[in-house]
Amino acid sequence: MPVPFLDLYAGNRRYEAAFFRELKNLYRQSAFIGGPWLEAFEKEFAQSAGTADCVATSSGTAALHLALVAAGIGPGDEVIVPAFTFPGTAWGILYQGAIPVFADVLLKDGCIDPEDVLRKITRRTKAILAVHLFGHPAALNPLEKIARERRLVLIEDAAQAHGGFYQGKALGTLGDFGCFSFYPTKNLGGLGDGGAILVKRKSAAGRLRRLRDHGQRRKFSPEEVGFNARMNAIQALFLRLKLPSLPDDNARRTVLARRYLSALEGNPSLIPLKPSAEGISAWHSFVLRARRRSDFLRVLKTRGIGHQIYYPATLPALKPFRPFAKGRYPMAEELARSCVALPLYPELKEPVVLEILKALAQG
Ligand SMILES: Cc1ncc(COP(=O)(O)O)c(C=O)c1O
Repeated sequence: MPVPFLDLYAGNRRYEAAFFRELKNLYRQSAFIGGPWLEAFEKEFAQSAGTADCVATSSGTAALHLALVAAGIGPGDEVIVPAFTFPGTAWGILYQGAIPVFADVLLKDGCIDPEDVLRKITRRTKAILAVHLFGHPAALNPLEKIARERRLVLIEDAAQAHGGFYQGKALGTLGDFGCFSFYPTKNLGGLGDGGAILVKRKSAAGRLRRLRDHGQRRKFSPEEVGFNARMNAIQALFLRLKLPSLPDDNARRTVLARRYLSALEGNPSLIPLKPSAEGISAWHSFVLRARRRSDFLRVLKTRGIGHQIYYPATLPALKPFRPFAKGRYPMAEELARSCVALPLYPELKEPVVLEILKALAQG
């Protein structure tokens, strides 16, 4: 039985009728840019995370970039970022002419290692950009402490972590800026590109709203260099329909992840990444380290189980980031060598789950 790595329509079909009904309203009102759907989504997403405000953007990459601009990051400033993540985490640093300084990650969850962050701080460090990789919360307590003591801005890349928690607080609400992506495959996935920034104080949202809209508050009067980084209202309409199901969807992901985890207990060849005790993962992806990856990939292939390599290379090993690489990143390198992501989404049916469990037993 072929097992797809992802099945977007299986998740989105639940909202199909409501979406087309609502779309007719939006279409007739021509509320394509800004407008009631966008404003309502911003309010509801901030409320769902228990924080002050949300600024919706055109993508997760744009959200991270605007957060860096609002944090005052400019040419020559250093931003500490994990050596193992999706490249979109760090593009904004390069857009600003700033310097990405790579910190190694922890093998247990793939998130940035706060001790290596401390080692990488210099006089030029301005910010820490932590990623909740695969939905697992980064070590926010130590990171917040470092940021506070060294007067650094803390940005959370929560692109993979909608609905996750750290010590009872929603991911994306602990740092100065919490950046999300609504790329279709995410836990809260849209119908195209989209993103958002959560902020703890309403006052922090004004500048972000201006930056995403040509640097202006009023039409034709930009106050600074701006961007066109607005979320499309059709995305907001769809995301509003989906948002109330996020807790249940994440609960289903957690149930599945726990079944995979218990199947792997005591297996020395397949070692899963999992969240620390302080957090509740959003379980965006189930990623494990395979000691003999090519053998395990063969098992998955033979059984027709979809999989991905998240990620095949460390960030400093990628061409655009190579000029900023310094020394080795042993844990990130180990993850790039051994990681495999398995199918994990709320709509996985029991026979398919059993197939995956069999592959884990064989691997
Ligand atoms: C960790 C991480 N950061 C940033 C991004 C960039 O988001 P987007 O694709 O919406 O620009 C993504 C995902 O795509 C991601 O997974």
